[in-house]
Amino acid sequence: MLAFDSLTKRFGANVAVKNVSFSIDRPMMVGIIGASGAGKSTLLRIINRLTDATSGKLEFEGRDVLGLKGTAKREWQSQCAMIFQQFNLVPRMDVVSNVLHGTLNRRSTLATMFNLYPTADIHTAIAILDRLGIAEHAPKRAEALSGGQQQRVAIARALMQDPRIILADEPIASLDPMNAQIVMDALRRIHEEDGRTVIANLHTLDTARRYCDRVIGMRMGKVVFDGTPEQLTTGVARDIYGADADFSESATSTSIDTIETSAARAIHAAEAIA
Ligand SMILES: Nc1ncnc2c1ncn2[C@@H]1O[C@H](COP(=O)(O)OP(=O)(O)OP(=O)(O)O)[C@@H](O)[C@H]1O
Ligand SMILES: [Mg+2]
Repeated sequence: MLAFDSLTKRFGANVAVKNVSFSIDRPMMVGIIGASGAGKSTLLRIINRLTDATSGKLEFEGRDVLGLKGTAKREWQSQCAMIFQQFNLVPRMDVVSNVLHGTLNRRSTLATMFNLYPTADIHTAIAILDRLGIAEHAPKRAEALSGGQQQRVAIARALMQDPRIILADEPIASLDPMNAQIVMDALRRIHEEDGRTVIANLHTLDTARRYCDRVIGMRMGKVVFDGTPEQLTTGVARDIYGADADFSESATSTSIDTIETSAARAIHAAEAIA
């Protein structure tokens, strides 16, 4: 499906992505992990053609992605929708209009200028919001929503493009553990129910282990691990992050489990009182 062949990206003397070769041969959920500066964002941006690779090849279903120009390039970009850590919504615009922005690629400039959306698209947008559990927020301004809700709006906007691939750059890095879980659950469900591939840069090991079918570890631009969550042992993680012997998993761990444990503790305490 998606095949990387010796992909390299240089910024001057700095090599951000180095000789990356791997392929994704069926729809799956892939997590990319690695220390800050490892090249995770650059890799996603190359896939989406936001950044041009210096050398190497990228093919999607046998088609050369890096050579696409003009309309073909824009079509590719709508096939691999991107989600960002900071949501990138228009804060003062209502939620449903933010979602409809996902159709911009196929609308005329005039329709865009006058905010004219086909009724069918509006229905689709509401249905997608409903699927993500936030339809009741459709008329509100995006800025009035919580971070977790805003990220779901961003996912809805991505789904509006009906993409084959969803690229998520640290989608939960700005969220509290509860919202992080809601957003990751949504991405997982979209993969399972729609068969879309999800490639997510994740800053925590436990999220990658819990949600992904496959984890890719990057270190200084190179892929240094490619395996299943089970194969991602503490020793392997230490190599990926380049940490020394006292490397602690908690340093790369969100507290999703902790919050569940503390919620369970609170319930037990309440039961004890009752
Ligand atoms: N536009 C740019 N110009 C110059 N150097 C860049 C640019 N973008 C990234 N780099 C460099 O490329 C390397 C990889 O950066 P990248 O943002 O891909 O890392 P990352 O793994 O996403 O890190 P983080 O976890 O902090 O987001 C870094 O050394 C970074 O400084
Ligand atoms: Mg990054």
